Amino acid sequence: MEWKHKHLLTIEQLSKEDIEYILETAVSFKEISVRSVKKVPTLRGKTIVNFFCEPSTRTRMSFELAAKRLSADMLNVVSSSSSLSKGESLKDTARNIEAMKVDMIIIRHSMPGSAQLLADCVSCSVINAGDGPHEHPTQGLLDAYTIKEKKGRIQGLKVLIVGDIAHSRVARSNIWTLKKLGADVTVVGPSTLIPAEIEKMGVNVSYYLDEEIPKADVINILRIQRERQDRNFFPTLREYIQLFGVSEARLKNAKKDLLIMHPGPANRGVEIDPAVADGPYSVILDQVTNGIAVRMAVLYLVSSVGSSKKVKMKS
Ligand code: CP
Repeated sequence: MEWKHKHLLTIEQLSKEDIEYILETAVSFKEISVRSVKKVPTLRGKTIVNFFCEPSTRTRMSFELAAKRLSADMLNVVSSSSSLSKGESLKDTARNIEAMKVDMIIIRHSMPGSAQLLADCVSCSVINAGDGPHEHPTQGLLDAYTIKEKKGRIQGLKVLIVGDIAHSRVARSNIWTLKKLGADVTVVGPSTLIPAEIEKMGVNVSYYLDEEIPKADVINILRIQRERQDRNFFPTLREYIQLFGVSEARLKNAKKDLLIMHPGPANRGVEIDPAVADGPYSVILDQVTNGIAVRMAVLYLVSSVGSSKKVKMKS
């Protein structure tokens, strides 16, 4: 298959074949991170900018490590120390970054559509590392990679996405990815945190976590996104934990080979009990490890379109 996308802005825009191609490519990149010398020359001479206007631990580091393991030059720009803090527009900052002849900009921003906005005004490749509550494509991809690695398939699996669906870009990118790959997805949470027309994305909706757990092959647990909420969406945190917090007791009727996932950052004791986060079903740290391989695959594929010269596969 020939990769055709100069940017990675959303999973919604990708086909099933595109997603499968990224996941297959990531398999071949995963072993580089366990070599004693964790570096291949694939993107030597390329310059990539991590442009993060919202906090991040995993995504920013993972993209940086992915770029460095492919031998690209990587710069980090954060909004608090950039001229955005002096009133420069996002568009102007991006065009100035591009004027320094970079090959790719990876952007995280609180505004939905910010990655698309950038892609429309610069000529280099743009990768969306999370645009407000809209999408977080590489998180959707690394979650799918982890499920496929552990279960051997995605088609037909029953996946629960639990928590604050309304404000979650991870939920949206997971739903697009998993539905395109044939999973049966159910979103679970308080009615105030589930968008009214979410069924149009092909998912089931449930407000009763205990009824869904015994049927689940995978439970992806989401944080309550307080930074995107302008009011209270449930009476008390205690009530939320009682109804939707995933605890060991709540998993007593779960399948033996259940996968527990969380994109991080996790609020232990709220949406996930520490014993579950660190327990036998948890693949949370595998998700983080796999994020590097998936992002290496994305950088490699996007570079092959964004540049005039084709990049050479790893050696
Ligand atoms: N999963 C995720 O996006 O984590 P960070 O906010 O730490 O990047």
